[in-house]
Amino acid sequence: MSDTSVTPSSIPQHVAIIMDGNGRWAKSHGKPRVYGHKKGVNAVRKTITAAAKLGIKSVTLFAFSSENWRRPQEEVSLLMELFITLLSTEVKRLHKNDLKLRIIGDKTGFNSRLQKKIAEAEALTQDNTGLVINVAANYGGKWDITQATKRIAEKAIRGEIQPTDITEDLISQEICLADLPDVDLLIRTSGESRLSNFLLWQVAYAEFYFCDKHWPDFDEDGLAEAISWYINRERRFGCTGEQIKALMDNK
Ligand code: IPE
Ligand code: IPE
Ligand code: MG
Repeated sequence: MSDTSVTPSSIPQHVAIIMDGNGRWAKSHGKPRVYGHKKGVNAVRKTITAAAKLGIKSVTLFAFSSENWRRPQEEVSLLMELFITLLSTEVKRLHKNDLKLRIIGDKTGFNSRLQKKIAEAEALTQDNTGLVINVAANYGGKWDITQATKRIAEKAIRGEIQPTDITEDLISQEICLADLPDVDLLIRTSGESRLSNFLLWQVAYAEFYFCDKHWPDFDEDGLAEAISWYINRERRFGCTGEQIKALMDNK
């Protein structure tokens, strides 16, 4: 029988979530898609509170992909307004609870008002020591690897590095979330099992958990289910269970 006792060390340190299904949730309630996005905010609040209680160190939330600009103009505008409103109303509460908020993605794609709000929110919470919340907005995994590559090429042009200095570690230093451990657990709601260009490099060894709930229905229970699924899996990192057990026996 496997040992299912939960210790702080069995809790994933870094959880990433593709918050999908707002539109379908709204449709199933006979409402416009934007109603689903607004309801999705409650799910974000609940998930963050639960993650902080569990002692998870960082949560990375996919809020808007680099491909989402292709959506109807009206939906995109409403999402941008929602981001601005949330940055105004929620950040103080996050700060009060010692949480750190960061936005990852190509921020230059946002209007100056939104860019200013983002900078203010990041500055206010930057020294907080609690849960780190990374919101991926105008983010794409391919964009992330590309921006890291550009920065490395610039270093090479300046003569600071040689091509032979380019290692996985160097790329990891230039990619978004470089200061955090890689993602342990990736959750996607609403039944789809694809990455949709979310974190690519950072999920190299993550466990992928898919659930059918639409994002507005996700809550503490949804997170708890995902975490218990994660804990009950044997994580091997490419070695055999016997090798891991042998390591333990040597302790
Ligand atoms: C996820 O929900 C939220 C965003 C992408 C902003 P969707 O809007 O993708 O909802 P569905 O997938 O259409 O139901
Ligand atoms: C991924 O969901 C992006 C976010 C959750 C923000 P999408 O709904 O945009 O992904 P696809 O289009 O179904 O792949
Ligand atoms: Mg979707």
